[in-house]
Amino acid sequence: MPEPRSTPVTVPVVRAAKRRDGHLPLVMVTAYDAPGARIADAAGVDLILVGDSVANNVLGYEDTLQVTVEDMAHHTAAVARARPKALVVGDLPWLSYHLDVVDTVRNGATLIRAGAGAVKLEGGANRVPMIEGLVAAEIPVMGHLGLTPQSIHTMGGYKVQGRTDAAAHSLAVDAKALVAAGCFAVVVEGVPAAVGAAITEALDVPTIGIGAGPACDGQVLVLHDLLGINPTTPRFVRRYAELGQEATAAVAAYAADVRSGVFPADAEVYH
Ligand code: KIV
Repeated sequence: MPEPRSTPVTVPVVRAAKRRDGHLPLVMVTAYDAPGARIADAAGVDLILVGDSVANNVLGYEDTLQVTVEDMAHHTAAVARARPKALVVGDLPWLSYHLDVVDTVRNGATLIRAGAGAVKLEGGANRVPMIEGLVAAEIPVMGHLGLTPQSIHTMGGYKVQGRTDAAAHSLAVDAKALVAAGCFAVVVEGVPAAVGAAITEALDVPTIGIGAGPACDGQVLVLHDLLGINPTTPRFVRRYAELGQEATAAVAAYAADVRSGVFPADAEVYH
């Protein structure tokens, strides 16, 4: 097991972590509650993303469009109560940064007050005013482009983005606009590896890839995917455990012991 971190991971530390400057790849994983944050932090990850994917992975929704700022603040606060040394990034949910800058800053502040050290939002150049507003209010912002799940209806499903030269070029332009607006890192999701590499090369801040190939400055996975809690996972996921099956087997063993009368045993009883 890794040694516990002695110092917290900060936004400037993440911003400087370009692999071409000799830094190790950044490791980010989602967590949505205190036990998840404790597991991730004990494993020594650099960043914990309280993703709006809490919608699919925990709350039983079909897509991420269902969660609200209040939902995200609730889960961000639970993660923050674990006091991780990893940087906690709170995901701004759909419609919390689309209306105007004031509304965006207020929603960003809600996640910061819940315990996030930064917020993340999806989109490209169209988000520049909102990002500038957040940064002006001292709220660090992580960008997210490529396959952006909050655009599921516009994209016509969860489809790999940037497959044509024009689309790849437009993603690179968007990525530069995010950085010019003040993003300290950019998640790149669901693009061909060559596009992930080109965006990483073009930016002076780290890219964190998910289904974006090995050249990114870091990688992010959903905790419930990498632990094998979700029954099925996309192609880009590596399942490091099969906790879903193990958990079902454990509960089935408990049920069998109760039904056969062997639980509780004498050692499990107060006398
Ligand atoms: O919400 C989430 O889990 C995310 C990651 C897929 C980057 O945004």
